[in-house]
Amino acid sequence: MARKIVAGNWKMNKLADEAQDLFNDVLKGADKLNCEIVICPPALYLQGFNNISKTDVNVGAQNVSAYVKGAYTGEFSAEMLRSLSIPYCIVGHSERRSLFGETDSEINEKIKNLLFNHISPIFCCGETLDQREIGIEKDVVKDQIIKALEGLKSSQIGSIVIAYEPVWAIGTGVTASTEQAQEMHAYIRKVLLEKYGEIAFEIPLLYGGSCKPSNARELFACKDIDGGLIGGASLEAASFLSIANSFS
Ligand code: PGA
Repeated sequence: MARKIVAGNWKMNKLADEAQDLFNDVLKGADKLNCEIVICPPALYLQGFNNISKTDVNVGAQNVSAYVKGAYTGEFSAEMLRSLSIPYCIVGHSERRSLFGETDSEINEKIKNLLFNHISPIFCCGETLDQREIGIEKDVVKDQIIKALEGLKSSQIGSIVIAYEPVWAIGTGVTASTEQAQEMHAYIRKVLLEKYGEIAFEIPLLYGGSCKPSNARELFACKDIDGGLIGGASLEAASFLSIANSFS
């Protein structure tokens, strides 16, 4: 069975002292949870947080360069994350795709570089509202997964975490219904099973998109939902911890 994970994607929020307070509060409240927590703060704070993180409260980057090293101003590499012992990194978030033009092949490069450096990618996939309305949401998500994982062997797949984040639910307050979310998660599991075999059951499948304390319990009770990738509701310790406490 896949392990349970609740990850917080802080995006570009929190100044240094606010970020430190929030991280400390999450650390304090995380003792009695029965899931792993991954906090993904702005990259500037990663090292400091990682130094004080503890078992089952890990940190992750929100992005990484597709390049290995060299003259790429403003970028940082997977190897640099490894040199700081950062265990996770979000890849392919829809904001990276839509606002920064990130392509499937860059996402594939990033995932390969991360795995080479023993960092677990939290790979995001999900359809837009237009795509769902014309009924191609499963094709879109399958295509994103196949392209992102191209060239990987079954032996490498076990380190990946997948977040299904319907674009229409991110930051909108609209959550996918439990039926919609479970149906897509089961489909993702099937795609992974067909391509990589039984390891598919070990891959945590997280739901993301307006997940909050009021709907987390119902979502996390679904058979193929192993946790969440939380944006807005991860910016307050109480709401984030309440979500992380929503496994029955
Ligand atoms: P949200 O963001 O929880 O604010 O919808 C989720 C995400 O973008 O990962």
